[in-house]
Amino acid sequence: KIFSTPKEGSAYVAYEIAEKIRESQQNGKSIVIGLATGSTPISLYKELVRLHREEGLSFKNVITFNLDEYYPIEKEAFQSYFSFMHRQLFDHIDIDHSNIFIPDGELPKEEIKKHCQAYEQLIDSKGGIDVQILGIGNNGHIGFNEPGSSIFSRTRLITLDNSTRIANARDFQNISQVPRLAITMGLSTILKAKKIFLMAWGMKAPIIAQTVEGDVTEHVPASFLQQHNDCTFVIDETAATEL
Ligand code: GLP
Repeated sequence: KIFSTPKEGSAYVAYEIAEKIRESQQNGKSIVIGLATGSTPISLYKELVRLHREEGLSFKNVITFNLDEYYPIEKEAFQSYFSFMHRQLFDHIDIDHSNIFIPDGELPKEEIKKHCQAYEQLIDSKGGIDVQILGIGNNGHIGFNEPGSSIFSRTRLITLDNSTRIANARDFQNISQVPRLAITMGLSTILKAKKIFLMAWGMKAPIIAQTVEGDVTEHVPASFLQQHNDCTFVIDETAATEL
């Protein structure tokens, strides 16, 4: 779906999410939403906060799992995805904070494997992800699944590509401060979501074209989304120019 502006695209995704939240509320059920970070979903989170404040959308029955977190990083660091999510969304809605799950960037290295396995099990125990929000990196990464990630990959520790560290250096004082590792949901974790929205705005046209129209390949992790049966790309006109 191509929109004139990121604001309109975000409003569309927010509306779809709100409908699903209300539907599950009517059925007395909870709903599991997979969340992304980066600049792309900021306008979506703004709109969800607006729906909460102005239209009374409640998040009491919402359970969230974030895609990824830097490693190592302190939760309270400005750049952590933990801080980002609270700043952009969680501090402004009525979500029960015990329903928020984000990979833990503070754990000692020897505990990470267990933590990743537990994260997968937790997702399964909540019934799996109903709606997954994604952005996309310029190298085709989703979450922090860098090129070369297997379609069978699960939540794990990954080494960030240099290009990713350069792109994300804007949030840090300089590139040397960008963590070299991250914990990310795997591609198989993401692909198990029942519904996926990938959003992209602005200068993402080349990677969007490769992802949507190119080969399905590990070189472009997002291209595996072609094999998902309910995935919508929500993009603006600039990101659509090479389609
Ligand atoms: C980050 C995140 C991804 C995000 C991507 C794009 O590194 N780990 O989940 O989709 O890079 O970022 P942006 O939305 O700022 O372009």
